[in-house]
Amino acid sequence: MNAHHDTTGHVGHERAGEADRAMARLLELDAEVLASYLAELTGLLAQRVAPGPTRILDLGSGPGAGSLALARQFPAAQVTAADISTQLLHRLQKQAAARGVADRISTVETNLDEPWTKITERGPFDLIWAASFIHHVSDPVRTFTRAFEQLRPGGLIAVTEMDFFPRVLPEDTGAGRPGLEARLHQATNTQPPHEWTGPLADAGFVVEERRPFEIHLDTTQAGPALNAYAHLFLAKLRSHATDVLEADDLAALDALLDETHPQSIMRRGDLSVRTTRTTWLARRP
Ligand SMILES: C[S@@+](CC[C@H](N)C(=O)[O-])C[C@H]1O[C@@H](n2cnc3c(N)ncnc32)[C@H](O)[C@@H]1O
Repeated sequence: MNAHHDTTGHVGHERAGEADRAMARLLELDAEVLASYLAELTGLLAQRVAPGPTRILDLGSGPGAGSLALARQFPAAQVTAADISTQLLHRLQKQAAARGVADRISTVETNLDEPWTKITERGPFDLIWAASFIHHVSDPVRTFTRAFEQLRPGGLIAVTEMDFFPRVLPEDTGAGRPGLEARLHQATNTQPPHEWTGPLADAGFVVEERRPFEIHLDTTQAGPALNAYAHLFLAKLRSHATDVLEADDLAALDALLDETHPQSIMRRGDLSVRTTRTTWLARRP
């Protein structure tokens, strides 16, 4: 995610900047394409946090998909967005200003693997949100324990993970053999889905629900950002596929990623989004 560690000096910073920009773009498109799912999830939280939360903490906020959706769902809430990346937090501030909620979202640049001093000043919180983040931390139970300490008694944490990368292509793309995307995912995604029920309980939480959200959006439901979103996701998978896919599949994938090719992902009207995201809802007793 944050590539600042892999090289040193100016070139390293530029590469880190590029990696953050690409990641920010992908996360912003994700929020746009999956807006209906985000609205459903924040709507569920509205039923579970009563009265409505006034202080919300977004852990590993990135450019703010969660913070912005939460600010929309809870108009009386102040949202604190915490992340290690200056660049992603800057994008979040710009988005917040563009949507007229800059006065309700504040950012904290911090490494959440280190003591949460800057966060403690803003708590306690009624609701903590952590989407696609916990798998990044070095010690999930320690992170959940710190989150527990930041919540008021009765407060809720909502932890979400992507079970697998979204599928976006039709079975037969017209480029190469049918079933390309399934083979690409099988070859590049070797990790089982994350499971946080045990670590949440170990930190003292009462896990109230573990809810998988099955997401199926056709091209109309996903909206105009779908082609760029699909292109970025497949390009990301392509970068891991060189040594694990057959040559004909790599050639077909490259054709799909080539914006000048007749079968290009950027020109297609037959894309869709199929994915599952799981949310754990857990309460501080
Ligand atoms: C996959 S992104 C998810 C962003 C956002 N929650 C979303 O759903 O769009 C993971 C985020 O965690 C942040 N992150 C990773 N390790 C971190 C750490 N140790 N402390 C703070 N933020 C971290 C990254 O900078 C990145 O913004």
